[in-house]
Amino acid sequence: MCLLKHSKCIYVLGIALCLLFGIVAIYHEDCINAMSPQTARGREHRQNTEPPAAIAHDQHESPSTDIPMGSPVSSNRLSITSENSTGNDLYKHVSFRSYNEALEKRASPDKDVLLVYADLGVHDMALSFYESSLKKHGIENYLFVTSSSAMCQEFHLINIPCFQFTNNSNSGTGAHYGSKVFKEKMNIRTFMVLHALKESYNLLHSDSDVYYFANPFPVIKELCGSECDVAPLWDYMSHNAGFLYTRNTTMGIAMYEHMNNTACTTTDDDQVALNRAIEHCTKIGLKLVRLPTEQFQSGKLFFDDGNRTFAEDNPCTTCIVAHNNWIVGIAAKEYRFKEMHMWVYDGDEYYSSSDRKYLVYNNTDPSQSNVEALIDAFAIGQLLNRTVVLPKLFCFKKPKCTVKSICTVDDFTTRFKGRYREHSFLTHPMVPRKIKDSVGEVVLIESQSVPKSAKGDLSLVPENKEDGATSAEIVRWLSNRNESVLRFHSLYNAFWKFTDQEANSEFINNVGKVIESKEKCKI
Ligand SMILES: *[C@@H]1O[C@H](CO)[C@@H](O)[C@H](O)[C@H]1NC(C)=O
Ligand SMILES: *[C@@H]1O[C@H](CO)[C@@H](O)[C@H](O)[C@H]1NC(C)=O
Ligand SMILES: *[C@@H]1O[C@H](CO)[C@@H](O)[C@H](O)[C@H]1NC(C)=O
Ligand SMILES: *[C@@H]1O[C@H](CO)[C@@H](O)[C@H](O)[C@H]1NC(C)=O
Ligand SMILES: *[C@@H]1O[C@H](CO)[C@@H](O)[C@H](O)[C@H]1NC(C)=O
Ligand SMILES: *[C@@H]1O[C@H](CO)[C@@H](O)[C@H](O)[C@H]1NC(C)=O
Ligand SMILES: *[C@@H]1O[C@H](CO)[C@@H](O)[C@H](O)[C@H]1NC(C)=O
Ligand SMILES: *[C@@H]1O[C@H](CO)[C@@H](O)[C@H](O)[C@H]1NC(C)=O
Repeated sequence: MCLLKHSKCIYVLGIALCLLFGIVAIYHEDCINAMSPQTARGREHRQNTEPPAAIAHDQHESPSTDIPMGSPVSSNRLSITSENSTGNDLYKHVSFRSYNEALEKRASPDKDVLLVYADLGVHDMALSFYESSLKKHGIENYLFVTSSSAMCQEFHLINIPCFQFTNNSNSGTGAHYGSKVFKEKMNIRTFMVLHALKESYNLLHSDSDVYYFANPFPVIKELCGSECDVAPLWDYMSHNAGFLYTRNTTMGIAMYEHMNNTACTTTDDDQVALNRAIEHCTKIGLKLVRLPTEQFQSGKLFFDDGNRTFAEDNPCTTCIVAHNNWIVGIAAKEYRFKEMHMWVYDGDEYYSSSDRKYLVYNNTDPSQSNVEALIDAFAIGQLLNRTVVLPKLFCFKKPKCTVKSICTVDDFTTRFKGRYREHSFLTHPMVPRKIKDSVGEVVLIESQSVPKSAKGDLSLVPENKEDGATSAEIVRWLSNRNESVLRFHSLYNAFWKFTDQEANSEFINNVGKVIESKEKCKI
């Protein structure tokens, strides 16, 4: 028996050992249920879990990460153009009767398939990913997997292939990081990959908050070759479960089976499960290729160590993918992508509107208050119905910061949604030329805080130079301006108060006091 085929025996024994680890006889019923992909027809209500709000493998983040769930989809958010991909007949299917059919229809001829798990909580992120990372690079062999039927329905309408892996009745509610529901959602990713591996596909598993500079398949396949079992992104100090290529080798499958066991028997998430599985399976022959970090970057490496905050910062010439992790919260990820022009989702004509009007201004003086200038900008924006394009904010005496220095990004973006745009907005390729070209002369509101040296093309002198202009003055001076982008030199003490008392206290309570205090900024 074993002695006859010695090496094979050791191999099999090794796998058994690898699997042995972590096996506990009691499996959660929820877990087992969640593991079986559904067929679209005759689907029974198998489980009552809430939707996975999981997006990224960010276990370094504070465990208090509450993932906000998206609101139900409204049709005017469907700004993604409906196309039949690049027209390759091979990939024309977007809806499927079963998971196996979905895999069969979407995989490339050499059985490579890119799986992206997404739910309503990352609705905009997933659509941005589709545009910026898949469609842009002509990647066809991908499939979105979700647990939200609303999401899949929407994707199908715009011809994006999607399969609903499990049904759940509560799409739209949140799941706390660390909660049972949250973990179950994370685990779906393990189940969907393991199932596909067993069906003999090679899987590139990607989160939707990974930005592709190029199609990663050619490089990964070259690096991994016909020898490697798994090739994960190196996440600074561990392997990342949100971007990894796994081949359908005995060891590749064993590794995921190990993860499946962790998923079903512990409360650890898939990131922990992956690293544990790698550690154990490496001992018995798992061949791993660590994706080179010059090309495949974690959020810490790309954004933090790379000093990348604004679109023009440090273009990365070697990058193939960058993971937007090592940051807390979906809104913060979105904001970071936006400042870097790595976001292209245009829901509600975020970029493409041709009639929205904007105002821009600068922070020119490190000794004056960023915060007060921003409050003035919001007041003027409100009076003139113009969206405030944020300036760079001073921090450590350098104009190099975002609103993160005022308020947490999550709070800021939620509170002031629609009233502002990120600093890099006006140079984004999707903003119409018509807007970019319609920029007015430099307006200078000459309050006492403006240095003598400051020059504007148009100087406006408020009656009260100490405190700044009133709403009446702002409206009189500027409400008839028709340029798309109204440009101010700076806004130190530019605005004093609304003439209307009620409007004034309303503004102070909802904007002024909020921005002034980090505590009040919290939502
Ligand atoms: C996509 O395919 C459908 C059905 O095959 C067809 O009716 C439609 O015109 C195609 N759309 C584009 C943009 O090619
Ligand atoms: C999903 O489950 C709900 C019950 O929670 C059920 O009403 C609905 O029909 C199910 N959807 C499908 C497609 O089976
Ligand atoms: C995951 O593990 C559970 C428990 O051992 C098992 O029932 C299930 O079949 C496994 N899933 C897959 C896809 O192998
Ligand atoms: C991997 O898939 C190929 C078919 O593409 C199949 O021949 C092979 O047996 C699979 N490997 C394993 C370990 O299942
Ligand atoms: C980022 O900035 C720090 C401090 O300013 C500097 O030491 C470092 O070399 C910069 N890194 C890159 C990649 O530019
Ligand atoms: C204010 O601007 C928005 C965005 O462009 C526009 O939809 C709205 O009609 C404007 N409101 C008024 C009162 O002009
Ligand atoms: C802000 O300052 C920068 C650099 O000094 C300058 O290029 C830009 O035109 C200024 N913007 C405005 C709105 O004045
Ligand atoms: C703004 O109005 C002036 C005349 O009042 C006109 O010449 C100019 O073309 C208008 N600009 C825009 C962008 O509508």
